[in-house]
Amino acid sequence: MGQVMEGHRLASEIRGRVRQRVDSLRDNNGIEVGLGLMVVGDNPASVQYFQATVNIAKGVHINTYQYRMPASVSLNEILNTICDINRDERINGLLVLFPLGRKINPRRVVNAILPEKDIDGLGSVSVGRLAAEESTFQIFAHDIPRATRERQFLPQQADYLPCTPSSFLPCTPFGVIRLLEFYGVQLRGKNAVVIGKSLAVGKPLAMMLLAKEATVSVCHKATADLRAYLRNADIVCSAAGVSGLIRGDMIKDGAVVVDIGINVQQDGRVVGDVDFDEVLQRASLVTPVPGGVGPVTIATLLENTVRSAQSNALLNSPLLIAP
Ligand SMILES: NC(=O)c1ccc[n+]([C@@H]2O[C@H](COP(=O)([O-])OP(=O)(O)OC[C@H]3O[C@@H](n4cnc5c(N)ncnc54)[C@H](OP(=O)(O)O)[C@@H]3O)[C@@H](O)[C@H]2O)c1
Repeated sequence: MGQVMEGHRLASEIRGRVRQRVDSLRDNNGIEVGLGLMVVGDNPASVQYFQATVNIAKGVHINTYQYRMPASVSLNEILNTICDINRDERINGLLVLFPLGRKINPRRVVNAILPEKDIDGLGSVSVGRLAAEESTFQIFAHDIPRATRERQFLPQQADYLPCTPSSFLPCTPFGVIRLLEFYGVQLRGKNAVVIGKSLAVGKPLAMMLLAKEATVSVCHKATADLRAYLRNADIVCSAAGVSGLIRGDMIKDGAVVVDIGINVQQDGRVVGDVDFDEVLQRASLVTPVPGGVGPVTIATLLENTVRSAQSNALLNSPLLIAP
């Protein structure tokens, strides 16, 4: 029988550190940390996530700026609003919730967010920096001093800059890596299977596991024999959004199973992709849904927001200090 890999303890530790940093920025530098949230239409899952994030942000003293757009909103209106948010000094990061509606191209929207405010790391610049291993220093935070790692990606002439440029890792896959490490799971040399190849979850998670030197297979709908991959997997991360996809007899004894899926059942219950009770019998560690990856995702988003505020170029400016 395996152990439950719950996310609340890690999430609470992260939120505690975030609250301290937010308070310190306010008290010592006069900077209030602000998070922008945008939702289009009334998709129940998005609205629920929006509200949960607003409440948790309040708990760590981050101000929220809420943009609730009707389903009829045009792409141009969204882009204009993002331009305003990019210029708004009060907002350090913007989270856009998906889906946006059929007429709106999500890539146009995420690419309009300044990389410095792209706290969910979905714009092309953030994705490119992850692929080029220019932002993966964040997943090695415990091994290598962050400042040293960040500086190596700065152009030579930027030595005088008072701060380092930011880019952010997508919160859900980054949260998965942190949860695995929190539970002491070694990634180097392990066979990892990621189910799902979306830009928000599957692909960046595969890249992060690869950066950690796991041997990674990415499965998707066209994968001919999912069982064959799972049979050899030391670590399984499922982000398909299909309830009951992973059964107990599909995984190897002692595997570590991370369930990222969120599926709302007809009776309102929220379940993941994994048959939790069956898998717990064979796995060494399994995340529950809810209460596994979800809380760590939101805590990581808030941490990215305060990190964005901390790298604000004004932070070291004498103009911030009252005469
Ligand atoms: N816990 C959290 O904090 C959190 C955060 C974000 C998302 N989520 C949840 O994670 C899940 C995935 O999110 P997403 O944004 O990545 O969704 P998505 O864009 O719909 O991607 C789903 C991926 O799963 C693959 N897939 C679907 N059915 C499959 C099957 N039967 N076998 C193998 N692969 C299959 C799809 O393959 P194709 O590419 O071939 O279509 C696709 O790559 C959702 O349930 C979402 O609600 C959770």
